[in-house]
Amino acid sequence: MYKIVEAKKLNDIIYKMVVEAPRVAKKCMPGQFLIVRTAENSERIPLTICDYDREAGTITIVFQPIGASTKEMTSLKTGDSFHDVVGPLGCPSELTELSAEELKAKKILFVAGGVGTAPVYPQVKWLHENGVDADVIVGAKTKDLVILEKEMEAVAGNLYVTTDDGSYGRAGMVTKTIEDLVAEGKQYDVCVAIGPMIMMKFVALLTKKLEIPTIVSMNPVMVDGTGMCGACRIVVGDEIKFACVDGPEFDGHLVDFDGAMKRAAAYKTEEGRKMLELEEGDTHHGGCGNCN
Ligand code: NAD
Ligand code: FES
Repeated sequence: MYKIVEAKKLNDIIYKMVVEAPRVAKKCMPGQFLIVRTAENSERIPLTICDYDREAGTITIVFQPIGASTKEMTSLKTGDSFHDVVGPLGCPSELTELSAEELKAKKILFVAGGVGTAPVYPQVKWLHENGVDADVIVGAKTKDLVILEKEMEAVAGNLYVTTDDGSYGRAGMVTKTIEDLVAEGKQYDVCVAIGPMIMMKFVALLTKKLEIPTIVSMNPVMVDGTGMCGACRIVVGDEIKFACVDGPEFDGHLVDFDGAMKRAAAYKTEEGRKMLELEEGDTHHGGCGNCN
């Protein structure tokens, strides 16, 4: 059992939990994720790691309830426990593989959208601890949905908060602020965009035009999280990849976002899953437990 040492709501729809998971906390790196189960028979829920404390042996998760399983998670309070926490899963951010000199030579821009701010935070914090202060754009629909602003401010070089409705910070979507920063003379060697798929698609389209290499973190449907079931299949360039083991980070200029969004929608119905099984043939795997 994995004890929840702190459970709180960050706003009306987003929850934060600090969980005792010493072995995960000891090993995890920015960019990796976990799979949790609330109870023995609960669904497996993939969640990005928002923070970790190796000494305290805790990890922090931030989530927005969407399906039945994440809604079930919201009933957990401080002092309750998760039945399982499996991780760290996936590959660490490729930035963590660069030397200090290589990192210091790079001008890095992070673009965080909504709940995607949570997985951006450990990357920016890790860079800050390694002497690199990146620029960060945090976008949310409205002022009340901006999360982790103070935490991000403490580790970012420059923080630009945007709201779609203009209720706080710069008005408009994150792409508008990228355009504004570049027009103001900012130059970036790499952009890391994490948020809803539609945001990552449009950030990648823009940065391709601006010739800024771009990394995105994909979060398609996941089941086992270990490369066996095929649920998280995506197309990158002309290759088929599985986000849980090959990613979750990929070259944003090569990801087939439209295909990934279509696939996520198809996965929701039995008919859609049957169609995917037909279309994807041997690379489908069928391990979702529903279509075979
Ligand atoms: P949201 O819909 O509030 O969007 C966040 C920001 O993204 C917006 O404020 C806007 O600036 C930008 N954006 C949205 N659509 C855009 C467009 N068409 N063009 C340019 N910019 C655009 O975000 P949310 O409701 O917090 O998102 C929830 C989704 O994010 C869920 O589907 C969840 O699965 C996903 N998510 C992804 C990751 C990841 O690792 N990629 C992590 C956490 C959550
Ligand atoms: Fe990636 Fe199953 S979740 S292969």
